[in-house]
Amino acid sequence: MTQDEMKKAAGWAALQYVKKDTIVGVGTGSTVNHFIDALATMKDDIEGAVSSSEASTKKLIELGIEVFDLNSVDMIDVYVDGADEINDRMDMIKGGGAALTREKIVAAVAKQFICIVDNTKQVSILGEFPLPVEVIPMARSYVARELVKLGGDPVYRQGVVTDNGNVILDVYNMQILDPKVMETKINAIVGVVTNGLFANRGADVLLVGTPEGVKTVTL
Ligand code: 5RP
Repeated sequence: MTQDEMKKAAGWAALQYVKKDTIVGVGTGSTVNHFIDALATMKDDIEGAVSSSEASTKKLIELGIEVFDLNSVDMIDVYVDGADEINDRMDMIKGGGAALTREKIVAAVAKQFICIVDNTKQVSILGEFPLPVEVIPMARSYVARELVKLGGDPVYRQGVVTDNGNVILDVYNMQILDPKVMETKINAIVGVVTNGLFANRGADVLLVGTPEGVKTVTL
């Protein structure tokens, strides 16, 4: 089974968590693209979606799913998104696709976070995947120096501008033993918009695509 087949299986499995007549929170990435394909099969049964990126918005609209502005929505029942790494406490690193800030906002509004991954994303300690940090452009060098003080090696993601007009620093060589504390510390650096640790609001349900089928994990 290929990695993409495992992503697809996880993406389609998430459909069981979508309730009729609700607005669905939709993440970003190749695994979520499979979920959007699945969601299109029940587009007449849902009200629509709130999207976490321009890329997902484009695909949702192309498939005939109405996309709502988050400000016009009171409540999101489920948010479905992928991850770059997830540990057994359901803490994640996200932002490989540079959509971390909008993802974190939509996840904050949602009642339930359904994380969909293939089995290569499960880790015991977060940090082998470089941690994305979205930064206001003029603060880039200052934030990089502060991240070095926290023990990381930040690298400017060349040529990438986020949907919010900011830049990304990818922080290498961080062994993140306490994800909640690290998330809070990095967010406190002036000039940081948000960072890719999703620990203070982690996943509620994890669907892992494996060669043996999709495994469901809850805490
Ligand atoms: C985008 C993300 C994605 O969820 C993460 O990068 C996983 O992507 P993929 O499903 O393509 O492996 O956080 O900002």
